Amino acid sequence: MPDAVMSFGGFTLIPMTEADLPRVVEWRSRPEVHEWYGGRPVTAEEIRAKHLDNTDPVTRSIVHLDGEPIGFLQFYEYIDEWKPAIGLRPDEEAWGLDLYLGEPHLHGQGIGTRLVRGVAERLASEHGATRVTIDPHVGNTAAIRCYEKAGFRKVRLMPSYERVRGEWKDAWLMEWRPGE
Ligand SMILES: CC(C)(COP(=O)(O)OP(=O)(O)OC[C@H]1O[C@@H](n2cnc3c(N)ncnc32)[C@H](O)[C@@H]1OP(=O)(O)O)[C@@H](O)C(=O)NCCC(=O)NCCS
Repeated sequence: MPDAVMSFGGFTLIPMTEADLPRVVEWRSRPEVHEWYGGRPVTAEEIRAKHLDNTDPVTRSIVHLDGEPIGFLQFYEYIDEWKPAIGLRPDEEAWGLDLYLGEPHLHGQGIGTRLVRGVAERLASEHGATRVTIDPHVGNTAAIRCYEKAGFRKVRLMPSYERVRGEWKDAWLMEWRPGE
């Protein structure tokens, strides 16, 4: 197993490898997950192409809690070509996060709040992030509540942000800054 990219409070984030594919496919097959992440189940080939063979500067990790794999989290520093999608100017810096907890019975227990807060804090302390963003669909009430509890705030409504099952969905740009 590769070395952790982040560790705190019982959480360990370990870079995703080929060995994680079956687990990730299973997680993404769960309606409670793909309803808000990806919009549909995915195949191992799709995940391999998107997460393993992809050379984008994104850190893709499996989240372990007390040694057990519980979900997926990716983080990245916005490169210039990605900035317009969330309304950032070229001179504005930001780090982004995307995640899901793969086991629905773990939802709603405060795990996401601790995870997101801990990752944001470490992006600031270990990578120098001055702004961390996340972009939940406007209907994803649980995620929005989770991110607000973690210290993120809504900064911008982004209309028709992402196409899901043929329908354009609006999303909130939410932001966390160290010290706020
Ligand atoms: C979003 C996600 C990461 C949040 O993690 P989590 O551990 O479930 O979140 P938390 O338990 O810390 O916080 C969720 C909050 O939303 C509340 N909540 C849950 N379902 C809700 C609903 N339908 N309406 C309103 N609030 C809801 C919970 O009660 C909790 O708030 P509370 O502590 O004030 O009671 C996780 O639920 C998940 O992976 N969901 C599926 C995929 C997904 O949505 N990914 C995020 C894409 S942006």
